[in-house]
Amino acid sequence: MDAVRIYGGNCLSGQTRIQGSKNASLPILAATLLIDGTCEIVNCPDISDVYHMLRLLQSLGCLVSREADVVRIDTKRVAECDMPADSVGVMRSSIMLLGALLARVGEVTMEYPGGCVIGKRPIDQHICALRRMGVEIMEGPEEFCARAERLYGAVHELPFVSVGVTENLILAAVLAEGRTVIHPAAREPEIQALCEFLVGAGGKISGVGTDRLVIEGVRKLHPVRFHVPADRIVAGTYLAACMCAGGRVFLGDAPCGQMESVLACAEKMGVRLSPSPEGLFVEGRACKKPPGALVTAVYPGFPTDLQSLFMAAMVFSGQGGRIEETVFENRFRIVPELVKMGADIRVAGNCASVCGGRPLHNTIVEAQELRGGAALVVAALAAEGTGIVTNRHFIDRGYEDITRSLRELGAEIELA
Ligand code: EPZ
Repeated sequence: MDAVRIYGGNCLSGQTRIQGSKNASLPILAATLLIDGTCEIVNCPDISDVYHMLRLLQSLGCLVSREADVVRIDTKRVAECDMPADSVGVMRSSIMLLGALLARVGEVTMEYPGGCVIGKRPIDQHICALRRMGVEIMEGPEEFCARAERLYGAVHELPFVSVGVTENLILAAVLAEGRTVIHPAAREPEIQALCEFLVGAGGKISGVGTDRLVIEGVRKLHPVRFHVPADRIVAGTYLAACMCAGGRVFLGDAPCGQMESVLACAEKMGVRLSPSPEGLFVEGRACKKPPGALVTAVYPGFPTDLQSLFMAAMVFSGQGGRIEETVFENRFRIVPELVKMGADIRVAGNCASVCGGRPLHNTIVEAQELRGGAALVVAALAAEGTGIVTNRHFIDRGYEDITRSLRELGAEIELA
């Protein structure tokens, strides 16, 4: 079955290593198209979104191989091909191929990217910004065609911060003619990793880590071997597991320096944390209501991808709390499923109020998107009885093997 079975109600104890970052790996894999030769991406997570990205690269003529956590991509034979719709439509990060392919082959025909059900997720800002760099884009009902003889640097004063738009513009700018300025640029660690990869390949990017990136186009990039940083969202997921179920766990390689807002919120909710260069030691369970609302924001604010996970922690703390989701318009999809478990959560617009103090019981619940699905698994660890989370394939998009990792942390969990 495409599901997970959880025997809830037990404390956690153990350690697990945090996988490489999905949201750093995907743009970096797209960026290999800018390099004529073979790149090696180390610590690349073995997850379905990466699988689909590698299939897209192969459909464009790349030679792709994986040995353990090292992925090799040889782009020498990249030609103009249409991408297989079954991969483009599956995930949003395919949009990142747009900038890279325009730089490499000058023309792309692509279906509108898919993604989670967490929001409309339009690509209007991608299209608007690429047009400023000399790209001609013809939009159809199902797909669009983008063409550019040459890409030209441009100054982008964006209307709001977008991770994907920042990434696409970096990929379009690094080999463009002239200077590109991106402001406000997203500052997520995944974008910093992308910039480090490109600078390592000979790109000229300044302002990395700030909200103003300046990219001087260069003529050529050279192949690199790059180590992907650990996934801060996966680390936050297993932190939330301990917050819900209680116990003592160690999360090896957890990138604590990229998780300040998350760790601060977890400590306010009552868990004891010991961050170190080796990882994160977590002890106890959430038992306090965070002062004020948990408000999601662009980095370095609280990440929207951990909002569902911390909602589960608020439920099991018994103290409740308030959440304001400011990034996506439909990211409370786990609420009806948590209510099936006995939670009392009220949603009004982009705010959710979690009432505490009710015993929760396991039942059959349905994952509807990646991070909400992970949150349901984490919630089931703490609820009484045996729970089933269906639609495991959503979770497999971003977690190498959530059952293995949680078993390493002492959970009683299995594929169903
Ligand atoms: C990236 O999505 C991540 N995905 C998301 O992670 C993450 O939640 C999001 O950034 C925010 O941090 C990947 O990196 C593959 P945005 P992205 O562009 O780039 C709107 C996960 O769980 N917008 O920063 O799509 C958009 O609708 C995933 O790993 C436009 O309106 O996010 C959203 O409301 C989920 N027009 C807001 O901007 C556009 O052209 C921010 O989206 C582009 C975006």
